[in-house]
Amino acid sequence: MQKPILILGACGQIGTELTVELRKKHGSDNVVASDIREGSESLVNSGPFELLDATNYEAIEDVVMHYEIDEVYLMAAMLSATAEKFPMRAWNLNMGSLFNVLNLAKERKISKIFWPSSIAVFGPNTPKESTPQNTVMEPSTVYGISKQSGERWCEYYFRKFGVDVRSVRYPGLISWKTMPGGGTTDYAVEIYHEAIKKQSYECFLSEDTKLPMMYMDDAIRATISLMESPLDSVKVRSSYNLGSMSFTPAEVAQSIKEHIPDFEISYAPDFRQEIANSWPSSIDDSSARNEWGWRPKFDLNSTTAEMLANLDKTK
Ligand SMILES: NC(=O)c1ccc[n+]([C@@H]2O[C@H](COP(=O)([O-])OP(=O)(O)OC[C@H]3O[C@@H](n4cnc5c(N)ncnc54)[C@H](O)[C@@H]3O)[C@@H](O)[C@H]2O)c1
Repeated sequence: MQKPILILGACGQIGTELTVELRKKHGSDNVVASDIREGSESLVNSGPFELLDATNYEAIEDVVMHYEIDEVYLMAAMLSATAEKFPMRAWNLNMGSLFNVLNLAKERKISKIFWPSSIAVFGPNTPKESTPQNTVMEPSTVYGISKQSGERWCEYYFRKFGVDVRSVRYPGLISWKTMPGGGTTDYAVEIYHEAIKKQSYECFLSEDTKLPMMYMDDAIRATISLMESPLDSVKVRSSYNLGSMSFTPAEVAQSIKEHIPDFEISYAPDFRQEIANSWPSSIDDSSARNEWGWRPKFDLNSTTAEMLANLDKTK
């Protein structure tokens, strides 16, 4: 029997789909969604929902005790582009919320944590192609600095206190159900919405900016699969590299043109270009593949087909 799960930041791009999937798997009553704001009606009404600030330890502890929560998925964070505008708020949210769940586990009030890291932990001195699991990091963004620090703390809590915390470095995530929350790879979602709405898109990254990306279904599958893996198969306790595809804005535009021949793209790079330039182009995820059997299913063409078909249905 699955013991109850709590998702913090459940109304965001990943949390919305993770909540649906975990509720399908474990039953709605066993998955408590929470966020600092109310999300879509379907999420709030499909099972228990709590308004909860992930930076408030006592408030989380109350919910954990009330529902007898065993596992926490921490999805609340400030993302890369927004974090450059509000550095201290980003640091306080990203680190404060992580310490809260790590300390709950240290005190044995919960027994397992999922906390996502990001390709933003890498920086301009990292090898760009096939970026290895262990390599030079030196992130140059507020967000990347918070994620790298988070990784170090996760490993420390595992080693010192036996906290079972698991993590992946998500690449840019592409999904159609919820809009992204202020990241540098948001263009790869917006472009599909604009393609359906007005057959054109002005991209905030240059045409040849190649970044690692992943379709949301793969990301959710990876997350749940890592959480279900036997304890001793999870060897990396900072965060696992996780890869599936890499592409440039010009390549997404071309794959959209195969469905919408009149689609046009133009380029007006802004401050997010500098962030993107500091990140890898592709990821070596052999540790995740070898240790807990990670395999992606979606490539660029299948992602484009899914995105356009689903957005067309909901327009
Ligand atoms: N989406 C991506 O492409 C991507 C890539 C790499 C890593 N990640 C990581 O995955 C996690 C989830 O990302 P996402 O894309 O779903 O983000 P998002 O911005 O879409 O969602 C974050 C959610 O957290 C909530 N939140 C903000 N402050 C809160 C607080 N104090 N208490 C409770 N909730 C709060 C927001 O209301 C929002 O619903 C983050 O840690 C992010 O860094 C995401």
